[in-house]
This record gives sequence, structure tokens and C-alpha cells, in this order.
Amino acid sequence: MAKCQNLVVSLVLLKTAKMRKIVIALDGYSACGKSSTAKLVASQLGYTYIDTGAMYRAVTLYFYENYIELTNPKAIADALEKIDITFRFNPNTQHSDTYLNNLNVEDEIRKMYISERVSPVSAIAEVRRAMVRQQQKLGKKRGVVMDGRDIGTTVFPDAEVKVFMTADLYTRAFRRQKELIEKDEIVDLDEILENLKTRDRIDTTRAESPLKKAEDAHFLDTTFMTVDEQVEYVLQLATSSIIKINKIEKPLEI
Ligand code: DC
Repeated sequence: MAKCQNLVVSLVLLKTAKMRKIVIALDGYSACGKSSTAKLVASQLGYTYIDTGAMYRAVTLYFYENYIELTNPKAIADALEKIDITFRFNPNTQHSDTYLNNLNVEDEIRKMYISERVSPVSAIAEVRRAMVRQQQKLGKKRGVVMDGRDIGTTVFPDAEVKVFMTADLYTRAFRRQKELIEKDEIVDLDEILENLKTRDRIDTTRAESPLKKAEDAHFLDTTFMTVDEQVEYVLQLATSSIIKINKIEKPLEI
């Protein structure tokens, strides 16, 4: 409890003072709690949350709707020229929605048919180059929490805080099924398990920036953790880092 209070005190101080900001990179497997954690950490720090998986999902939706063949480099390059992905704050959910060419695709990109197609699309070097460029631009001024697969290794290898998250496969599948049910999509657990296994395989074995733990990342297994505990873990790392780079002395004593 005392530890928690100290954290709250630090956060208040860090938010009110003019501070140098940091980049927080949360990488890891699908459905292990990265985005829930990242959103809450970002809102506590007053930082911007960037869901890089949503960007690959939006590209996948565009390729799907426009019949882009994944084996046709020219079609892929032309398509990437026409894709504009942005994030806009939604006051109803208090979170950002993903827009593809000015259309809100937040719900569509979370559906199972996109999950089934996203890993092969995100393994394409040209797609990755375009997304990484945009992600680096979004985080140029720092003050961002980014979740994905290659943030700590490729997008921001100089991120001040890096966490690599994982969880037991069944736990991840149950969590994903619950999320889908909340959005009225009923999917068999076996189908979700298969999808997670296939995506893990493609994401970890692709040639271009595969999912792997950065050497300097903290390892976090969330199987038996609540979201609040995950958030507190990342916030502790973040506040220590902000205190260090801003050379703040004794910030907890008030
Ligand atoms: O986080 P997510 O499940 O929404 O991500 C969807 C897919 O996008 C994931 O299977 C791999 C890919 N991805 C990636 O290759 N690199 C990232 N930085 C984020 C996601």
C-alpha cells in the first residue's frame, strides 16, 4: 500500500512538472494484456498510447477489401501509397479509434477474419518498413506508450522502458474469447487457440524483425496477474526512469 501511495505521489509530481518524456515499449505475444496495460499506463502518465497492431490490422483490412495479392510486390507498393492510418480520440470510450483513409475501422479490425489474415501481411518487408517509419514519426517527441512485437528491438531500440510480455496460451485464448464475446462475436475456443498458435509461429519466425525479447527488456508473465498489477509494474519502471533522466532527487518525500 505504501508503495502504491509513493507511486501515486510520484505520478502527480511527474505530471505537473515540466519533464523530459520517455518512450515505453511493450512487446509480446497476442492477447497477453499489452494493450489494456499500455492504455492505462499512458493515461496515468498523460502520454499517448499507440497500438501498432491496429496499424497492421488496418493494412490487412485494406488488402482484403481491395483484393491485394500478398505475392505481388507492385500491388503491395501501390496499395501502401494509398493507405492513410490515423488515430482519433473517442470521447465515449475515452480511447483512440483507428481510422483507415478517414473511416473509423476500430471495430472491424478486431474481428476474427482480420486476426486470421494479419500475420502474413505483417511479415511483408515493405509493409513493415512503411509502418515502422510512421511509428517512429508518431513517437519522435517521445511521451508515448507503444505496444507491438518489435518496438523495443526495431522501432525504438533506445526506449527508456522495455517490457516483454507473455502468458500461458490457454489464458490468452480465454481472454481473447471474452473480448470477442463482449463485442458480440462468438468464436470457438479451439479456433482462437489455433489462431494464436499460428500467429505466434509466424510472428516469431518471420525474417523481418521477428517477435523476440530485446536484451534489455524486462520479462513479464501475466498469467496470474490482474491488469492493475501489470499497470503498477510498468508504472514503477516508468517513474524510476523519468526520475533518473530528469535527475530528480528525493521525489517521493512530500
Ligand atoms: O497486437 P495485435 O494482436 O493486434 O497484432 C496483430 C498482428 O500484427 C500480430 O499478429 C503481428 C502484427 N504486429 C507486428 O508484426 N508488429 C507490431 N509491432 C504489432 C503487431
